[in-house]
Amino acid sequence: MAGTLNVTQVKEPAVYDLSQRDRTKKLKRNDKGQVLVPLFGDLKRHTMTDNDIDQLGNELIAQRFVDRNIFMTAELWGVASTPPYGHRNDITTMDGVIRAHGGDGRKACDAYVNASDEDRSKIIAFLKTLEIEQ
Ligand code: HEM
Repeated sequence: MAGTLNVTQVKEPAVYDLSQRDRTKKLKRNDKGQVLVPLFGDLKRHTMTDNDIDQLGNELIAQRFVDRNIFMTAELWGVASTPPYGHRNDITTMDGVIRAHGGDGRKACDAYVNASDEDRSKIIAFLKTLEIEQ
């Protein structure tokens, strides 16, 4: 739509050279020596509410062409170091923000809610390993 970045306006792909950063030295590389970033995100926008779960549909500022319940996936790389959660930083726990996934995230939310206590703990324990190393 007018005013938003159009694919024909992007001449070159974005290139990020992470190879010299201390923080990324431990990351795996592919056979070309390129750093493999464990992003845990899809860099896409998703509708995060439905009729039952609308906690993340609380953005106060309207952006042009983007509904207030649509958000770019927050990459989980480093998520353990960046509480509180959600676009308004109003959710204090990982458990809380996962349970707030409606809409496109609903399937993942339901799978989490319906999992055993033990499996939920394992997921949270895994997310807590995703720290940003200083
Ligand atoms: C097991 C699966 C999932 C887990 C553990 C998970 C976990 C999380 C966490 C911890 C956050 C908060 C990050 C932060 O605020 O820094 C988050 C945000 C988000 N997640 Fe997920 N997520 C999962 C699946 C999904 C799926 C399937 C979608 C969409 C298709 C999705 C879309 C989003 C979006 C758009 C946000 C940002 C919401 C906002 O800005 O308020 N997630 N997720």
